[in-house]
Amino acid sequence: MRKSLPSLVVFFVALFVYTEQKQGANFTSKNATLGSKDDHFDFMVYTQQWPETFRLQTGPEVQIPKNVTGWTIHGLWPSQIKKEAPNFCNSSWTFNESLIHDLGPQLSLYWPNMLKTNNLWAHEWTKHGTCGAPLAAIHGEHNYFATGLRLNAKYNITEMLATNNIMPSANKAYAYKDVEGAIRKNVNNMSFVMQCYWDKKAKKQYISQVMLCLDKQFGLLECDKYLSEGDLCWNTETIQYPPFQYDFN
Ligand SMILES: *[C@@H]1O[C@H](CO)[C@@H](O)[C@H](O)[C@H]1NC(C)=O
Ligand SMILES: *[C@@H]1O[C@H](CO)[C@@H](O)[C@H](O)[C@H]1NC(C)=O
Ligand SMILES: *[C@@H]1O[C@H](CO)[C@@H](O)[C@H](O)[C@H]1NC(C)=O
Ligand SMILES: *[C@@H]1O[C@H](CO)[C@@H](O)[C@H](O)[C@H]1NC(C)=O
Ligand SMILES: *[C@@H]1O[C@H](CO)[C@@H](O)[C@H](O)[C@H]1NC(C)=O
Ligand SMILES: *[C@@H]1O[C@H](CO)[C@@H](O)[C@H](O)[C@H]1NC(C)=O
Ligand SMILES: *[C@@H]1O[C@H](CO)[C@@H](O)[C@H](O)[C@H]1NC(C)=O
Repeated sequence: MRKSLPSLVVFFVALFVYTEQKQGANFTSKNATLGSKDDHFDFMVYTQQWPETFRLQTGPEVQIPKNVTGWTIHGLWPSQIKKEAPNFCNSSWTFNESLIHDLGPQLSLYWPNMLKTNNLWAHEWTKHGTCGAPLAAIHGEHNYFATGLRLNAKYNITEMLATNNIMPSANKAYAYKDVEGAIRKNVNNMSFVMQCYWDKKAKKQYISQVMLCLDKQFGLLECDKYLSEGDLCWNTETIQYPPFQYDFN
């Protein structure tokens, strides 16, 4: 049974559940309203993840590359208010890895593909990147991934936590308010979404993702207007920040 939601009432989408929408856009039409779905976006959700928790949560198909040492990018998601949309905005705009070849070294460290069976870049591009086309800074594959990388350096969760003495540890647990506060003071006190994976056996929560809400100039927005049960960390429990196990599999 789930406990009550934490007081940080934040909204958002449950992430690892990729509920896929139908590809309904009709780009052959001159009349935009003829499109069978509304692909506009209002703001962006920028999601970073803690790879070790992703591994604990997902299992042996996750391999953390040895040169990955900190928080990594999950994705940058053009979003509509109160909706998990738009998604899959242009099915003809297929992912082409050679277009981001020059970003490869940085992507491998900060936006790594950790699933053996899935290509995160192709997924993020097809589902979310194609929806960013109206905004020049993320129009097209190269802009989309370069901007994602730039934001990872700007909103560096690894550093936000480390400067507050919150380091990965196998046995230490951190107070919710310390972890939340360490991030909050680095994001102009804006509310954000902090997700955890609850290990039922161990009865412990592991920090998994941090989502920031950004406007179209990439400035921070409040994230707490809506409510979701998407794996929010409980403010009643301490938080685990587990160190990476690279050779687990
Ligand atoms: C897209 O819109 C055009 C123009 O109205 C129409 O002729 C065509 O059948 C539509 N295609 C699809 C797949 O809905
Ligand atoms: C194009 O959009 C307008 C505005 O919504 C609508 O009134 C019109 O019927 C559409 N045109 C066609 C051909 O459907
Ligand atoms: C859809 O993708 C094509 C590339 O396949 C691109 O040229 C076009 O501009 C895209 N359309 C929109 C609305 O983004
Ligand atoms: C991918 O992009 C490269 C570089 O622009 C281009 O040469 C190649 O044809 C593209 N591949 C596909 C399948 O579109
Ligand atoms: C990091 O490791 C991966 C996998 O071993 C490798 O493909 C990638 O090139 C490395 N990145 C850098 C910047 O050395
Ligand atoms: C984030 O901060 C950590 C710790 O200071 C640093 O090692 C890492 O390179 C930074 N990430 C980026 C993308 O600058
Ligand atoms: C955030 O809020 C705290 C407590 O209300 C305040 O002391 C601090 O100056 C604020 N920081 C920013 C960046 O607004």
